[in-house]
Amino acid sequence: MTTLLHIDSAITGEASFSRRLTRRIVEHFRSNQPDIKVEYLDLAEQAPSHLSIESLGFRLGLTDEQLTDAQRRENEITMQLLQQFLKADIVVIGAPMYNFTIPSQLKAWIDRIAQAGHTFKYTENGPVGLAAGKQVVIASSRGGAYSTSEQGQAMEHQESFLKVIFGFFGITDIRFVRAEGVNMGDAAIEQAMGEAQRSIEELALEAA
Ligand SMILES: Cc1cc2nc3c(=O)[nH]c(=O)nc-3n(C[C@H](O)[C@H](O)[C@H](O)COP(=O)(O)O)c2cc1C
Repeated sequence: MTTLLHIDSAITGEASFSRRLTRRIVEHFRSNQPDIKVEYLDLAEQAPSHLSIESLGFRLGLTDEQLTDAQRRENEITMQLLQQFLKADIVVIGAPMYNFTIPSQLKAWIDRIAQAGHTFKYTENGPVGLAAGKQVVIASSRGGAYSTSEQGQAMEHQESFLKVIFGFFGITDIRFVRAEGVNMGDAAIEQAMGEAQRSIEELALEAA
């Protein structure tokens, strides 16, 4: 059975464009595969804490006796998030642009799943991703337009960062469903959501 992990990170609740898009993307997958298993993670509600001396993650290989209670608790959170990510065949992520990059809640989740020996490893020939074979679909929302100019592309560290990190994990199938320019007036919103909807339909056509 296919497992889909649905993640939202926007802090804007019902007004969120990225949440609207992740819902539509998940609906499309569900309509193509009615028995798909969907897990949901709302990082605006339950983000892991930022990395700290207790949650560095390098200690995942240590035995229980070698850990403090706080380290053990943090390792459990990291392992649970890692396993949830690793077992998903499809990962749908709502990723708004905040200050030219992703929300810190989403970064905190990535910091937990970026673990040597689990999602990547270093070899004599450089890093190797260990999470190959998944599809990642990112619902990207942003107030301004960045994709249509060289200057915009140089300024954005949201989609480009996500592409790099999931690529680093060995994932080659990374799609973007983009609504950009949503703070540029009603006509821009309509155009942005129309383009995003067409990207979702393309995904659905491929999956059919
Ligand atoms: C804290 C914060 C920072 C933002 N920073 C940017 C930015 O750097 N560039 C931009 O184009 N839009 C920026 N925006 C606008 C959002 O990207 C835009 O409203 C987007 O729709 C947010 O996603 P959402 O609708 O899913 O909440 C920012 C919004 C917030 C709340």
